[in-house]
Amino acid sequence: MFAKIRRRLLLSYLIVLSFILGGFAIAVRIVFTHSFYKQQTQKLAALAQVGVANAEFDNGQIRIENDLPQDKLLKNHQELNWFDTKGNLIQKQGQDILSLPAHVKEGEQISTGGKNRIQSVTLPIISSDDKELIGYVRASQSLEEFDETLNKLDLGLGGGIVVALIISGAGGVWLTHQAMQPIEESFERLKQFTADASHELRNPLMAIKSNAGVALKYPEGMRESDAEKFQAISSATNQMTRLTEDLLFLARHDNIPNHIQETVNLSSILNNLVQLYQPQAMAKEIHLKSQLTEKLYLLGDPNQITRLFSNLIQNAIHYTLSKGTIEIIANRSVSHLIVNVQDTGVGIAPGDLENIFERFWRADKSRSYNSGGSGGSGLGLAIAQAIAESHGGLITATSQLGIGSCFTVHLPVF
Ligand SMILES: Nc1ncnc2c1ncn2[C@@H]1O[C@H](COP(=O)(O)OP(=O)(O)OP(=O)(O)O)[C@@H](O)[C@H]1O
Ligand SMILES: [Mg+2]
Repeated sequence: MFAKIRRRLLLSYLIVLSFILGGFAIAVRIVFTHSFYKQQTQKLAALAQVGVANAEFDNGQIRIENDLPQDKLLKNHQELNWFDTKGNLIQKQGQDILSLPAHVKEGEQISTGGKNRIQSVTLPIISSDDKELIGYVRASQSLEEFDETLNKLDLGLGGGIVVALIISGAGGVWLTHQAMQPIEESFERLKQFTADASHELRNPLMAIKSNAGVALKYPEGMRESDAEKFQAISSATNQMTRLTEDLLFLARHDNIPNHIQETVNLSSILNNLVQLYQPQAMAKEIHLKSQLTEKLYLLGDPNQITRLFSNLIQNAIHYTLSKGTIEIIANRSVSHLIVNVQDTGVGIAPGDLENIFERFWRADKSRSYNSGGSGGSGLGLAIAQAIAESHGGLITATSQLGIGSCFTVHLPVF
């Protein structure tokens, strides 16, 4: 149970941490790319301005003064293009790296040309005399180098997150261990207390039971009402004895792997239980039958395995109305023995199915021992599940209200 809580704690911690680190990495990437584009746009706008200043309108023709530093353009992987008003390319300078669309579009743009991305800024050329549009200048730069840097940044951030998660995971294991230790210790103390209290209660209960038994042995000198009181004391003591034994069993065996490793003949245990409960079933006119594959063996504690199936069969008889049917079907898969205890009883509401293995949980609370009713204490299934788990198995249940229930026990064959 605690290992499961620890794993869930660690997992939640790692999920939260990966969200935080992921968010941080995305923020860093966004800030980095945004400031780069901004800086680049400013540089390209300045370059385009130079291009505009170098363009002159002469006799209806654009003339480009060729005094731009060609090597600087080449070094920066930049290109300048001049277009007329119709978007026809007139001249170009710089590195011939770009395969941008020939048409021009004013403003800044990022487009994919070939395998590289290209950032460009296009400015209009306005004649200084009549303020008319005479063409466009486009300053562009390949983003190849920037994209390489961005890839490295992504790798760095991704790698950093993975390393941080591994280190935090290791730290988290230690932290969850530290955090759970006091809880585990107090749980152990509580379990020990339950075991001790149940154990200590056994002797006084035995004393009450035997005294009530002795008194009931000679009812002659007793008033009838007193005899009834002694009868009630005896029956309440029986229920309390069973309850303390159940509590003691859970305190001793829950979450503790079973140490007794005898070869258990499951077919014979189930056959014996069917024989044992046949009279009880017949008294309620319930058809109790079994369908067992021969030679179902497992390693474990035969007494506990008997108790597990006895609890399931008792429940099936208790929660099945007269003329119903209870069937026990046992089979073997490659690695497990699978036993179904199915009944045509009252069934369990879908919302209640998840609670039935909890201690002291009962669908019909009004009929519990505590309220003096005829029902049980609500520990039977918790004990059955604890036994199945201590043998490396589990119990699952399916049910439909008014139709019946099926409890499936999976026990590994070692
Ligand atoms: N076969 C079944 N059909 C319908 N309901 C069931 C069946 N088995 C268990 N339940 C429901 O699950 C509850 C818990 O079962 P569990 O065996 O733990 O306790 P219990 O039978 O009430 O008491 P105890 O077994 O301790 O005497 C029952 O009270 C009942 O409501
Ligand atoms: Mg029960």
